[in-house]
Amino acid sequence: MRVVCVCGARPNFMKVAPLVDALHHADIHPTLVHTGQHYDEHMSRCFFEELGIPRPDINLGVGSGSHAVQTAEVMRRFEPVCLETRPDWVVVVGDVNSTMACALVAAKLNIPVAHVEAGLRSFDRTMPEEINRIVADSISDLLFVSEPSGVENLRREGIPDERIRFVGNVMIDTLLRHREAAEQSAIRERLGLEPRGYVAVTLHRPSNVDDPTALGSILNALENISAELPIVFPLHPRTAANFKRFGLGARLAGLPRLIRTEPLGYLDFLSLMAGAAAMLTDSGGIQEETTILGVPCLTLRDNTERPITLTSGTNRLAGTRAETILAAWADMRANPLSARMMPELWDGRAAQRIVRELMACRQARTATSRGAPRMGPVAERSVPPTMTGVHGGSPDAMAAVVAAGGVES
Ligand code: UD1
Repeated sequence: MRVVCVCGARPNFMKVAPLVDALHHADIHPTLVHTGQHYDEHMSRCFFEELGIPRPDINLGVGSGSHAVQTAEVMRRFEPVCLETRPDWVVVVGDVNSTMACALVAAKLNIPVAHVEAGLRSFDRTMPEEINRIVADSISDLLFVSEPSGVENLRREGIPDERIRFVGNVMIDTLLRHREAAEQSAIRERLGLEPRGYVAVTLHRPSNVDDPTALGSILNALENISAELPIVFPLHPRTAANFKRFGLGARLAGLPRLIRTEPLGYLDFLSLMAGAAAMLTDSGGIQEETTILGVPCLTLRDNTERPITLTSGTNRLAGTRAETILAAWADMRANPLSARMMPELWDGRAAQRIVRELMACRQARTATSRGAPRMGPVAERSVPPTMTGVHGGSPDAMAAVVAAGGVES
């Protein structure tokens, strides 16, 4: 089986790592394509080293640009790769521009596309990621879903059940695999941080950091919070540039209890999250990671495409204005969340399930093209109607899925 795996931006690397590993274990050696959407040492290369991802076979070297330019450039450079390798699958992960661009190229060449982390919806089309998710899902042949809301969303959009697989969360595969190694990180000692004695912050969403009023309001909230607990703030390049551009850099630098750092590597950042009293973030993945780590998370957004982190995890929506953030902060300090349910199938084996499904569907396709009746995994392993009821994670519904062959645990 020939597989092309695509990654492009920071959050893709931790998703692609367990997939590439599981493919190798199944004796399938994928062609790894890095689009080059992210290219800095801190935003890209260090993740390959730390997560043991093989050097990409192909780097498209696309770099930064407007959405149209970046997307078009990825498409232009990915098409010859597809024509040359003619894979059985193009596997894309997440929701960045590279995800959508490569899915589109493959679909137009009639190459089967598998989307990992399908079905998530914020229902906010001003987010570039929401557009990427909708487009990638609508043209993918197999949709690998990380939480029950994803199944419901896809069904609502008319995606047939036989394309949907609820398999769990590859990002959590990576977290569980590297949790122990992260305990060896010296980042907390280096920054002089006491366990549970600090807050860690990340920000990069255009809606929060590309607008001076929005960024200024978040900075007001950070000023207040830092009076209570020290803050560590690894700065995304977009965010660092905008603090300067909007004349807010001096105010940020002047906060005595706020430590700014470069973007951190995976293990240091995992260690920082695991030891924090709380995370403040607008990232998607961090909402999921804090849920597994049991660390309270305030999401600086008005919505989330990952509702399981609100219902089963440690996440709360805090909005984006100083007043709402500080109200959520006070509420979190007064009523810390007690232990909650781990989301279903976030067990470290999502990538293995995905590889099994890719192989099974490929076999079914081959059988069909030889004239055999259309049966086997694609028809048999669809998500049964009972899936609609599993939001929140009922074990009975899951048993029904397993019994119907939807996933193997
Ligand atoms: C992208 C993804 C976002 C993801 C985020 C993680 C899209 C639409 N957005 O946003 O979903 O959560 O990555 O970081 O795909 N830059 C560097 N070095 C780099 C990469 C970027 O300096 O290695 C700077 C450039 O100035 C660039 C800016 O960061 O213009 C933004 O990069 P870009 O890839 O456009 O989007 P992100 O904001 O990183």
